[in-house]
Amino acid sequence: MSENLTLPAQQGSTDGAPSTTETLLEVEGLTKHFPIYGGFPIKRKVGAVQAVDGVDLTVGVGESLGLVGESGCGKSTTGRLITRLLEPTGGRITYRGQDITHAKRKQLAPVRSEIQMIFQDPYSSLNPRQTVGSIIKSPMEVNGINPAGGREKKVRELLELVGLNPEHYNRFPHEFSGGQRQRIGVARALALNPKLIVADEPVSALDVSIQAQVINLLQKVQDELGIAFLFIAHDLAVVRHFSQRVAVMYLGKVVEVGDRESIYNRPRHPYTHALLSAVPEVRVDEEEQRERIRLSGDVPSPISPPSGCRFRTRCWKAQDKCATEEPPLVQISGNREGHLTACHFPEDPTTEARDEDVVLDPALKALEDSAGKE
Ligand SMILES: Nc1ncnc2c1ncn2[C@@H]1O[C@H](COP(=O)(O)OP(=O)(O)OP(=O)(O)O)[C@@H](O)[C@H]1O
Ligand code: SF4
Ligand SMILES: [Mg+2]
Repeated sequence: MSENLTLPAQQGSTDGAPSTTETLLEVEGLTKHFPIYGGFPIKRKVGAVQAVDGVDLTVGVGESLGLVGESGCGKSTTGRLITRLLEPTGGRITYRGQDITHAKRKQLAPVRSEIQMIFQDPYSSLNPRQTVGSIIKSPMEVNGINPAGGREKKVRELLELVGLNPEHYNRFPHEFSGGQRQRIGVARALALNPKLIVADEPVSALDVSIQAQVINLLQKVQDELGIAFLFIAHDLAVVRHFSQRVAVMYLGKVVEVGDRESIYNRPRHPYTHALLSAVPEVRVDEEEQRERIRLSGDVPSPISPPSGCRFRTRCWKAQDKCATEEPPLVQISGNREGHLTACHFPEDPTTEARDEDVVLDPALKALEDSAGKE
């Protein structure tokens, strides 16, 4: 490819209303292996961190897909691959019908303005020496965008849209609170009228009281501007109200994906069950609450993941087959259309809690064990 990518005119949601019928982003078999070098005096490759290892997912026009999993499972790497901040090792990323997997910087220009990222840390992601006006304006300058009425007018409009005072145009990031800084990050992401925002744990660095405000802002952005989101989060509670569909990741792979109702009320993968039960406030209905499932053991190293199903070292349902055959991510019997699960022996499609007590947090188990000995 030597020419710039030519993106087709957007179809579907012309009024900003979310529409999941048209695919905006499609990711197939995406992999990212970070090489590990060792040896002396000549360094050579001795292994690789399999951070992302065959991820499949889609995001529809105006849709929010939540991407959830424990620390280190490859969520941020997936987000950075999609925004092309990282070069994929393998697989394919298709955006609006165009293969952007290995597109070069110049070819990517039209896509870069349409796919924006919001980062986790609102402190380190804003240049402390730039005014808020310059920070929000800079994507327009870099991309040569001149909105009607000028860039400053557009920045002031964006400040207002994200709930900040347009008069604060000349202030510096340190004059704002964490929640306000994240609003500045949102305004910067909106400066180029994106169609997809990859939000990497946008609220996890904020106080709980501020988290809801920022999520409400993102919800407003999604609803009013029809922008699609890949919303990355540690726990299922955060994405519950924001994402129409949810993908659950474990050790570099998506193990379950489906519409919100299926994932929260009829999860089939044991790992999804465990994640849900680790969130006490997630209720199945008014009367019922899931019993806490706690997983034993640490997450295995992504340098040498377990054979077969990667979850098998922590799974209470594991059998011999799980060690030899990797379960494909498919629509298993009992799942609704679009609800895919990668498991040989899935949980029943029921909301009933399990009886066994498996330990999610090794530190918590250690505490409980020591309390039991006293
Ligand atoms: N540049 C890098 N070089 C080597 N390994 C990396 C690099 N970036 C990430 N990794 C490794 O890849 C794996 C996935 O990391 P990633 O940051 O994508 O996880 P995550 O799901 O976002 O975790 P968290 O919830 O803690 O943010 C981890 O084992 C991490 O140590
Ligand atoms: S495939 Fe086996 S080990 Fe993996 S989640 Fe299913 S039952 Fe557990
Ligand atoms: Mg991360």
